[in-house]
Amino acid sequence: MTRQTTSPLIVLGSGYTGRVLHRMGTSQGRTVHATSGNPLHNLADIPSEQRLRFDLEQPSTWLNIPVGADLIWCFPATPLEQVQAFAHMLNAPSRRIVVIGSTSAYDAPSQSTEYPPPWIDESAPLNLTKPRVQGEEYLRQHHGAIVLRVAGIYGPGRNPLEWIKSGRVGSSRKYVNLIHVEDLAAICLAAIEKGTPGEVYNVSDGTPRTWEDICRTAQTRWGIAATGSRKEDETGKRISTRKLVSDLQPRLQHSDLYANLQTLI
Ligand SMILES: NC(=O)c1ccc[n+]([C@@H]2O[C@H](COP(=O)([O-])OP(=O)(O)OC[C@H]3O[C@@H](n4cnc5c(N)ncnc54)[C@H](OP(=O)(O)O)[C@@H]3O)[C@@H](O)[C@H]2O)c1
Repeated sequence: MTRQTTSPLIVLGSGYTGRVLHRMGTSQGRTVHATSGNPLHNLADIPSEQRLRFDLEQPSTWLNIPVGADLIWCFPATPLEQVQAFAHMLNAPSRRIVVIGSTSAYDAPSQSTEYPPPWIDESAPLNLTKPRVQGEEYLRQHHGAIVLRVAGIYGPGRNPLEWIKSGRVGSSRKYVNLIHVEDLAAICLAAIEKGTPGEVYNVSDGTPRTWEDICRTAQTRWGIAATGSRKEDETGKRISTRKLVSDLQPRLQHSDLYANLQTLI
């Protein structure tokens, strides 16, 4: 059920995704505050009454977070001790908390060689040796945080075609899962409104692709050549978004990767 809310919304960590969240939340009529360790410098274009100084590593800044506000956590939830102390101070679960995690949480130390790789849903084993996964799981289990396990984020200024041109990625059979930053921001806002506390949702555009496919399309549509093909042992992952789709019913505006890449050119 959708929750009617007038609580202010705090975007904890206003970087690439956080900025889009601030803009989108505001346009939906919410009071949204953006945080930064250095708001005067990093948030100069955001109205001063919507800027907050916050750095997880500096407990004196924690008191700047207004009581009762909802939080969307947009940076890795580490180190665990600070995450625990901050969450304790917040007195959650009286607030709604969404944490942006990563599908790298599913990177098990020994990966299967099955190909194509199996679909990964939210019940897949986690790599709990990763500090951010420990932080996310702590927030989820002890403070009712909703954890989004997010695929590769792209959009303006983060263009997969540039990654191909620069050789950061090459043509390989490895699967990749992507999400456009605007769809991610919309999903974060949907999760704050109607996500179930303590639940996990995988987030991607729903279509895993191989880098081979993406590189081939880059070559045929835009003449962009990969700097080399790679022999990847890694098979990558195929992220299932079935739960996201059934529970949060996001209306993705950017599910067509190739149409989006055209606009990013
Ligand atoms: N990039 C990807 O493809 C990808 C994929 C899956 C998940 N993710 C995760 O998604 C989240 C959002 O990613 P993004 O690329 O939008 O992030 P981003 O651009 O790196 O922005 C995060 C912001 O958080 C602030 N921050 C960093 N450490 C902090 C701390 N200790 N305390 C308080 N604020 C802190 C920083 O802002 P100030 O310096 O202004 O304080 C930083 O700009 C991150 O958790 C990222 O790891 C990313």
